[in-house]
Amino acid sequence: MLANPQYDNSGRLRHLLTVEGMPPGLANEIFSRAGSFLEPGAGNIAKRPLLGGRLLINAFFEPSTRTRLAFEIAAKALGAEVVNFDAVSSSLAKGEIFADTVQTIIALGADIVVVRHAAAGAARQLASIAPAQVSVINGGDGCHAHPTQALLDAWTVMRGCGRIEGLRIVLVGDILHSRVARSDIHLFSALGAGRIVVCGPASLVPRQFEQLGVEVEHDLDKAVRSADVVIALRPQLERMHGQYFASAGAYLRDYGITKSRMAAAARKALLLHPGPLNRGVEIVSDVADGPQSQILNQVTNGVAIRMAVMTLLAGIDI
Ligand code: CP
Repeated sequence: MLANPQYDNSGRLRHLLTVEGMPPGLANEIFSRAGSFLEPGAGNIAKRPLLGGRLLINAFFEPSTRTRLAFEIAAKALGAEVVNFDAVSSSLAKGEIFADTVQTIIALGADIVVVRHAAAGAARQLASIAPAQVSVINGGDGCHAHPTQALLDAWTVMRGCGRIEGLRIVLVGDILHSRVARSDIHLFSALGAGRIVVCGPASLVPRQFEQLGVEVEHDLDKAVRSADVVIALRPQLERMHGQYFASAGAYLRDYGITKSRMAAAARKALLLHPGPLNRGVEIVSDVADGPQSQILNQVTNGVAIRMAVMTLLAGIDI
């Protein structure tokens, strides 16, 4: 087993590859920093040029709206330069391999590389070859991990509920293919959630998830009962090779988040979704746009969380 390159010899965060095993104190330090990047009252992102002269390269080998834009906006709010690598128009089309592409990105002078890739372990591979002055942030690798999404989800719940300890959290949908689900499970568990339930069809929520210390439930009406937080996840069709459910209509009937299902949750339950949303499949518009929805708060919070992570990796005291 290789040493985890996420931390240096003194335990300082050098890259952000996963939240698995992250000490709660470190997560709370990130939340506290994120809070300092929101203007009091309005909750707008504060501009603070703490990363002036640094270069962030967004190296996205899979599509993204929220993560890529949030990193770009966060880096610019911190005064950094940003370059977006476009996989479709890159030399990958000429047969270049991932390792050569990322070596090139590093040689172009990046201080921070955010990488998203369909292969689990891609960010770790990049971190293992990055020189000392370069930090790697995992923007999502295959079904493995999406650490900044988990941090922004946990912080959104913290801000909405005032705590995570003891909360009943339900993740609904395609858990099997979801890096968000895995990262959320690790982080919410570390932060003391009272009960975490994963729910969906048996094809997408196998019993093996119990090994992560969560409950597996295939009946959504049971799972949402008295939940404090409901996190809806889309079916990840791009990772499915075969049929995992009968039809979009059947999926909505059995596993869609609807008003009546949210009514069965706790009175002030929060509804989260990392996006992108498939309205009319895993969630209906009444709920996605309703008063319990945190979906747009997640997006804004995600900018502050990325500012927090980048300043921490740069070793900047704030
Ligand atoms: N939540 C998330 O990762 O969204 P994007 O794919 O749009 O970045």
